[in-house]
Amino acid sequence: MLRRYRERGRGEVTREAAAMAHVTTHGFPAPAVFTAVGTDLVMERLYGPVLLDAVAAGDHDAGAAGRVLADLHTKLHAVPPRAGTPDERVLHLDLHPANVVLTARGPVLIDWTNATDGPPDLDVAQTAVILAQAAVEPGHVHGQAAREMLVTFLGATDGQALPELDRAVARRAADPSLTTTEVGLLDEAAALVTATAR
Ligand SMILES: Nc1ncnc2c1ncn2[C@@H]1O[C@H](COP(=O)(O)OP(=O)(O)OP(=O)(O)O)[C@@H](O)[C@H]1O
Ligand SMILES: [Mg+2]
Repeated sequence: MLRRYRERGRGEVTREAAAMAHVTTHGFPAPAVFTAVGTDLVMERLYGPVLLDAVAAGDHDAGAAGRVLADLHTKLHAVPPRAGTPDERVLHLDLHPANVVLTARGPVLIDWTNATDGPPDLDVAQTAVILAQAAVEPGHVHGQAAREMLVTFLGATDGQALPELDRAVARRAADPSLTTTEVGLLDEAAALVTATAR
């Protein structure tokens, strides 16, 4: 499986690959990295549907999917920190149901573009904001499923989505791939997270 960047600067593949290599070394389920050179990342090819598609097809319960996401956060943040970051953990920061592949060895987390080191609460808050955004968007094709996932996700993460919620919203607002409509719904998404996490 080759991931090739056409628009991003050099070096991003190295960062992404380094995070993947670190977590897989510690047993976390991410694709094995074969080579990372220039703009090309060659990694293990996974077989299976992404979690979102499995939920949409009725093959996976939406509530259970929220717990799958929570479980991946728990496992990821149990990975020992990288050298020089004693108080931080490797964060994925885009841990949502379209970035989880259901394989024969279990759920595997892909798309490590945003990976960095920081507080685990930020990673949890970021997932909550992404789910809540889909839940509050009128007519969103996955709106109902996202709402169900959000409820079980917040139930399984025990208030962890709240301390860094504002930062997660700010990061999301700064994401150039979001439409102005999506940015306009961020306050409502944050309010839904706050109300549901209590
Ligand atoms: N290692 C892999 N093995 C098999 N399929 C993969 C792998 N990595 C990614 N994919 C497939 O490619 C799709 C997009 O990958 P990824 O999430 O990494 O990129 P993306 O930037 O989010 O792209 P997109 O915007 O198209 O979703 C995934 O939904 C998955 O179907
Ligand atoms: Mg993706």
